[in-house]
Amino acid sequence: MSSSLVESPVADTVDKLIADEEQVFLRRQPRSSELIAEARVHLAGGATSNWQIAEPQAVWMSHGLGSKVYDVDGTSYVDMHGGYGAAIAGHAHPAIVAAVSDRVRRGTHFAQPTEDAIWIAGELSRRFELPLWRFANSGTEATMDAVHLARALTGRDRIIKVEGCYHGHHDSVQVSVLPEADEVGPRERPNAVPGNSGIPSAIRDLVIVVPFNDTGAVARALAEHRGQVAAMILEPVMMNAGIIAPDDGYLAVIRDMLHGEGAFLIYDEVKTGFTTGPGGVTARSGVVPDMVCLAKALGGGISVAAIGGTETVMSAIADGRYEQVGTFNGNPLAMAATRATLTDVLTPKAYAHLDELATRLRGSLEATIATYGFGWHVVTAGAKGCVTFRREPVREFRDFLQIDARLGHLHWLMQHNGGVFLPPWGKVEQWLLSVQHDRDDVDRFAANFARFAEAVAP
Ligand SMILES: Cc1ncc(COP(=O)(O)O)c(C=O)c1O
Repeated sequence: MSSSLVESPVADTVDKLIADEEQVFLRRQPRSSELIAEARVHLAGGATSNWQIAEPQAVWMSHGLGSKVYDVDGTSYVDMHGGYGAAIAGHAHPAIVAAVSDRVRRGTHFAQPTEDAIWIAGELSRRFELPLWRFANSGTEATMDAVHLARALTGRDRIIKVEGCYHGHHDSVQVSVLPEADEVGPRERPNAVPGNSGIPSAIRDLVIVVPFNDTGAVARALAEHRGQVAAMILEPVMMNAGIIAPDDGYLAVIRDMLHGEGAFLIYDEVKTGFTTGPGGVTARSGVVPDMVCLAKALGGGISVAAIGGTETVMSAIADGRYEQVGTFNGNPLAMAATRATLTDVLTPKAYAHLDELATRLRGSLEATIATYGFGWHVVTAGAKGCVTFRREPVREFRDFLQIDARLGHLHWLMQHNGGVFLPPWGKVEQWLLSVQHDRDDVDRFAANFARFAEAVAP
């Protein structure tokens, strides 16, 4: 994570506070420390994903219920981590427990379709205004299929990708995900920076990187590679660099430019899909792309993904020009959980509740920020939100690089030690509210935030 230290109110105080809070954090979690040591024997790095490793240590979990999660030391937290944006249902939601329990008793895997898939595809068509759908198992698989489809349909290899967007861990999109300030190159022609080791340079060379919210950069990319661009993929609201909203008109303009050059527009709504509203940014913006990728919140806590597309795009699947496959695609357990999520969890009433909580939380945080005159921004999009620790608004990834990463880390620690679990990547991630959260939950967050603000005030 980049840590360009620019606008910290009191730099030395922040370092000292981080050290103190990390000690508190470790003292509260002796059982996690033991399990990490034990895990290291046969689990590489002592974790099941590198993203579960946090500073000062990973938190091992016991269970979750409602809006709370419980770690292996028996400590409870208001869960605003949400399993990296998946747990919009909260934990052990009765409708999902019932649907999954019923399905488990009737067999969980056949690699043959079950009727729930038809209902879900219809419901996704209604919400996202795209007629045809397929299922997969993770956000990575969904964006991989979308990029493959665009290449299959156009016979072109290049794609345009936004600097700072994350689309999963397949080769084509592991480029300029979270590059450091000294790697990004000139703004008008950003470097294509490898997002991981093991990505062939031949694949990386197919990616044209552009800044977010810059239609001119997309026009230039298309003009310089005329007839070679299959698609542009982006998170229509960026959510792997805090939260960055698109400027008015941005999405419509890039869609028209891409279509003018025979290329497709792909929205990666893996994070934004159901958290920003019932039909994601697609419905909110009214700018419907050629393909939408969904995952995370779709399955109510069970692994599932979906790809939606226009008749033109999805005809390549329907007639076999592109083989969209997977042993677990449309898995009955995932379908049962997904159907329950769309029917009983993500209802209009639930969205009204989420909006009410988001407004309340935002108001409290803004009042605290005003008290201390920090000029930071509370950025919310439906059930998602974050505080941007910077006076100037963030419009693209390079602005985000300017944010003092230590404030995000300290905030995470102080929330955690104060009983609120946030995703452990400081300024990169956001909170997620669930339908089972209540006013007391958001007020706890606000109280911790006030304590944090007081601590870093000059
Ligand atoms: C926007 C976005 N797309 C794709 C992915 C990849 O999803 P998964 O981890 O399910 O493969 C993520 C994961 O965080 C994401 O945030």
